[in-house]
Amino acid sequence: MVPSNLSIMIVDADRSQRLLLRRHLDTIDGIEIAAEQGNINECLQSADANPPDVLIVELDTSNNLDKTLEAVGSLKLTHPTIAVFVNSTSNTPELIMSAMRAGAQEFLRRPVELDKLRKALEKVRILTTHTKAKTATRGKVVSVFSKRGGLGVTTLAVNLGIALSEVSEQRTALIDLDLQLGDITSFLNLTPEYDILDACGDGEEVDEMQLQSCMTLHGSGVAVLAEPGNPDASAEVSGRQVTEILDHLRSMYGYVVVDASHSFSDSTYSAFEQSDNILIVTVSTVSSIRATKKSLELFRSLGYGPDKVQIVVNRVSKADGIRVNQIEKTLDYPVFWTIPNNYRAVVDAINSGIPLVNGKRPADVGKSVIRLAEALMNGNRGEVP
Ligand SMILES: Nc1ncnc2c1ncn2[C@@H]1O[C@H](COP(=O)(O)OP(=O)(O)OP(=O)(O)O)[C@@H](O)[C@H]1O
Ligand SMILES: [Mg+2]
Repeated sequence: MVPSNLSIMIVDADRSQRLLLRRHLDTIDGIEIAAEQGNINECLQSADANPPDVLIVELDTSNNLDKTLEAVGSLKLTHPTIAVFVNSTSNTPELIMSAMRAGAQEFLRRPVELDKLRKALEKVRILTTHTKAKTATRGKVVSVFSKRGGLGVTTLAVNLGIALSEVSEQRTALIDLDLQLGDITSFLNLTPEYDILDACGDGEEVDEMQLQSCMTLHGSGVAVLAEPGNPDASAEVSGRQVTEILDHLRSMYGYVVVDASHSFSDSTYSAFEQSDNILIVTVSTVSSIRATKKSLELFRSLGYGPDKVQIVVNRVSKADGIRVNQIEKTLDYPVFWTIPNNYRAVVDAINSGIPLVNGKRPADVGKSVIRLAEALMNGNRGEVP
């Protein structure tokens, strides 16, 4: 689908800043400046007559701040789909909070940087393109999970997310639900401005626009919802909020990959319930196979069978004492996929920041994840040696 132009309205008392914004916007494709105003009240009238997609408004802390926030709030009430970007020379947490409460989607430091503006507009484009095509089918949710830690869940989730976005050519989101120990952002070398706690906001309901503004774009094009910056606050994310987050994300993205927590918490159950596929990661050791058996029993009791729950044996090598067919026998369950052991490639990918599935010649482990993405996308049968 070819996205239509985004119409932008600028409100800024300072001419030179308006000029700067215009210059930035001129360099971004698919943008149309609908109006430029010196104050918010004039803007309210023209926005009512002709609502833009995005309003970029100055927050001047020394002049009419409350009035500006009030005007933003009332504009959002009458036109909830307008994305509001505020910009200010101040960036105190109180000011950011007040702006978000008024309905702002992005908070930009003044003078606004081109790169930040471009990224913020890209997020709006994803959402509006999607909203305009709301008839589209729901995206698929793939959760990657293992009861035991350290078996390769995050490695697989991150690389599968990138591989799915490439092979499916659909927008893909990656969400870290390992709320206490999550480390997707360090795997991807990202410094997120917002995380899942910001996405949840103050209330029980998760706002779609706010969620979208909390996503961090990775160079691969995958949008990441980061783990809480403050792990102590992880309990603040409820199962219901996870359901809502996934519901919103799957209406915006073709694929949503979840790095699930290793514990069966409310949020993990919500993710499982929303998932089209749950990939259980195991390795060929007695303890991890035992843990996998327990997980399978639990999934069986939830009514999930092999169409939904697939086993992925990670770190497979010729030297393994327990072969894949023995794992299948012990679990009385088919193994869907195997990923080769290649510690060097995995560590290089983390250190270089180039994901396993990217690069000119991906290593065997990267190739395997790309084929897994293709199999999930096409509903193919699994692949075991
Ligand atoms: N296919 C592989 N070959 C070799 N090493 C691997 C492979 N996959 C993952 N690893 C290594 O296994 C270790 C654990 O990986 P990872 O962090 O992805 O697991 P996890 O299940 O997310 O662990 P955590 O308990 O921290 O959540 C890492 O050192 C990683 O480099
Ligand atoms: Mg992990």
